[in-house]
Amino acid sequence: MPGDTLNGSWVSPAEVTIGQGTAREAGAWAESQPGLTALVTGSRFDHLAEILEWSKEYQGQFLRMVQSGGEPDMDTLRNHVSRARQAGVTSVIGIGGGSVIDTAKAIAGLVPQPEDQDIGDYFEIIGRGIPLRFRALPVLAMPTTAGTGAEATRNAVIGSSAHQVKVSLRHASMVPSRVILDPILTLSMPPHLTASTGLDAITQLIEAFTTRRRNPFTDGICREGLHLAARSFPVVLDQPHNLEARSDMLIAGYFSGLALANSGLGAVHGFASPLGGLFKVPHGEVCAAMLPAVLSCNWSQLYSLPHPESGDLKTRYTFISRIFTGRDDASMGHLVGWLQSINRQSGIRPLIQMGIHKEQWPSIIEKAMAASSMKGNPVSLARDSLHRILEIASAP
Ligand SMILES: [Fe+2]
Repeated sequence: MPGDTLNGSWVSPAEVTIGQGTAREAGAWAESQPGLTALVTGSRFDHLAEILEWSKEYQGQFLRMVQSGGEPDMDTLRNHVSRARQAGVTSVIGIGGGSVIDTAKAIAGLVPQPEDQDIGDYFEIIGRGIPLRFRALPVLAMPTTAGTGAEATRNAVIGSSAHQVKVSLRHASMVPSRVILDPILTLSMPPHLTASTGLDAITQLIEAFTTRRRNPFTDGICREGLHLAARSFPVVLDQPHNLEARSDMLIAGYFSGLALANSGLGAVHGFASPLGGLFKVPHGEVCAAMLPAVLSCNWSQLYSLPHPESGDLKTRYTFISRIFTGRDDASMGHLVGWLQSINRQSGIRPLIQMGIHKEQWPSIIEKAMAASSMKGNPVSLARDSLHRILEIASAP
């Protein structure tokens, strides 16, 4: 039964620092690297300047690179990689949300590869998916949002507008070797981003805790991550400046990345991947909109069809329902109600308001069925169940 055995290899960052004001330690890390460091940030980096005084102090050693507007497309990434190669970059720091950190990881993965090989060849789906020949450069990741867990994973997501998909570059050496979790960096998130990234972390923890590939290593991480999120997610929504709660959510997001890197996910992320590629909707918001619908369908299928792990999965879902709702008698219905209420309060849009309409469902379902995360969903969802999920997630 999944969850009982521990086989295979595991990936995780080598050194993780957590605490208020720890962002300053990035300067010392850059100084300890033998060559030039690429510093990748979003376009709103300036508002962090006061906190990140080290970046002024050590400015001479950095090649500044900006990635704004979500994940890069292939041309932008080619440009980043070419600049980094020309400058002789030997290490990378990524400070930002998931797409900035993924950009840093992609640059680190691609810079050392043979220059006569087109970088598109290393990508799944749109390229040949060939493995990286050389190990990635060392990466330090510092998230400024709490939710994607990109600082703990081995893949980098890139958008391809030509193919209307998001694709991944992945290699075990692309996991950042150094992670700094400074909750002060997350204080500037506006309420909607706090909600959508927090719900991405919660989705990742729930899916990793119930996926077919669940295992004792990720079980422990998920249990603790779920406790932290249940305790502090409502607090960060009500009190955005509460640093203890921000810290809990940063750790919950990190744990969610660590868990998904070592167990995979489920149907919410199976849908999120094609929806993100086709409609350019924010990942966290899509996950938040899909989660109650997927949980409802998974739960009803566990009751209606025989399943060899039915008892274990019901126990896990009941545990999750109880810790989030705070009710000893809670079951899935209460959890779904709690999530729907959070979505309404936080302005998470139903799919229809994101511009995703019924006539597009067949192609979404087709792509979702082929997504790797869908294969990890604890129950097998037939086409009509996927249709039902889209129906629920679209209802205003
Ligand atoms: Fe996610």
